[in-house]
Amino acid sequence: MWRHTASVAYTRCPFDVDAELSAPPDYRWQVVVSGNDTSSQSPYSKPVELIREEEYPHMNQGTYLDHSGTTIYARSTIQRTTHLLLTNLYGNPHSANRPAELSGDVVDAVRLKALRFLGADPAHYDLVFTANATAAIKLVADAFRDLAELTRAGTFWYGYHREAHTSLVGVRELVKGGALHHRCFEGDAEVEAWLSAAGDSSTADDGGGGGCGGPQGGLGTGTGLGLGLFAYPGQSNLTGRRLPLEWAGRLRAAGKGGGRLRDTYCLMDAAALAMTSPMGGVFADPEAAPDFVCVSFYKVFGFPDLGGLVVRKESGHILALRKYFGGGTVSMHHCARRSN
Ligand SMILES: Cc1ncc(COP(=O)(O)O)c(C=O)c1O
Repeated sequence: MWRHTASVAYTRCPFDVDAELSAPPDYRWQVVVSGNDTSSQSPYSKPVELIREEEYPHMNQGTYLDHSGTTIYARSTIQRTTHLLLTNLYGNPHSANRPAELSGDVVDAVRLKALRFLGADPAHYDLVFTANATAAIKLVADAFRDLAELTRAGTFWYGYHREAHTSLVGVRELVKGGALHHRCFEGDAEVEAWLSAAGDSSTADDGGGGGCGGPQGGLGTGTGLGLGLFAYPGQSNLTGRRLPLEWAGRLRAAGKGGGRLRDTYCLMDAAALAMTSPMGGVFADPEAAPDFVCVSFYKVFGFPDLGGLVVRKESGHILALRKYFGGGTVSMHHCARRSN
């Protein structure tokens, strides 16, 4: 039995998902001139002191200096969520009953709303909710490991920027063949040189390139020899600087027409970037956008404790070949005897 049915009679309450979820007003990125604020150009709709009093009374206990770890949850977010939970019955979205349908509707509506918030057109991008940004990265890494097993090389090449968070660095441990197949780019100049060489068809593949992956450091210009993944943070936790957005587009261009990077994909870790900057620039042009972008919603909104993976639809096939299945990723499974 894979479907649960509701054990209580339940009438679905009228629920306008979009309207319910749009309150309270969003203070972020809103530019309001004058208002009650004495400064001429305030990015907020109310004086900050008032917002702080209304929304963040729990911050009165001290000074919070870890915004890059996570932003603080607002009182109205918690109140609104509690209200929704107490006035609706949400079920398991994978079941077939009214509470389940309601959950499914809310998840779908929130997915669209989150994509809109990130400036990612749902025609070109999808969003997978994950436990956090690390889980989103692991999802991509598992897919590459599984897919690589089907290739002649049996492994994939992994390149990552030196300023990457540990969540990105750890992916190298899934690469079979060790340091020969992964490379840490020591800085932007190394990435630029790698992309330029890959885009230049006259340049011979050098098979190496240094970096903290050792002198072999990976497959040099990346090569067209096999499956590859290049990962970097949208914003560095080490320095706070934002790394170039155009790398994803250049990488894709270098793979066009059978180019060397034709099987190399791009993963951007936007966990830090999304909490300090609108993301529209990352997704504006689907041809130049990273294949995968991970975000951490709790860092942006303070609540709920959730992450996400924005997937460029044209690159979604990579995730479809992941070996593991379970939970909401399958509708049904029937155990049959395997011959080996
Ligand atoms: C740049 C960056 N990437 C990834 C992460 C991991 O995020 P999460 O806690 O959502 O797994 C963090 C967390 O601080 C981060 O700052």
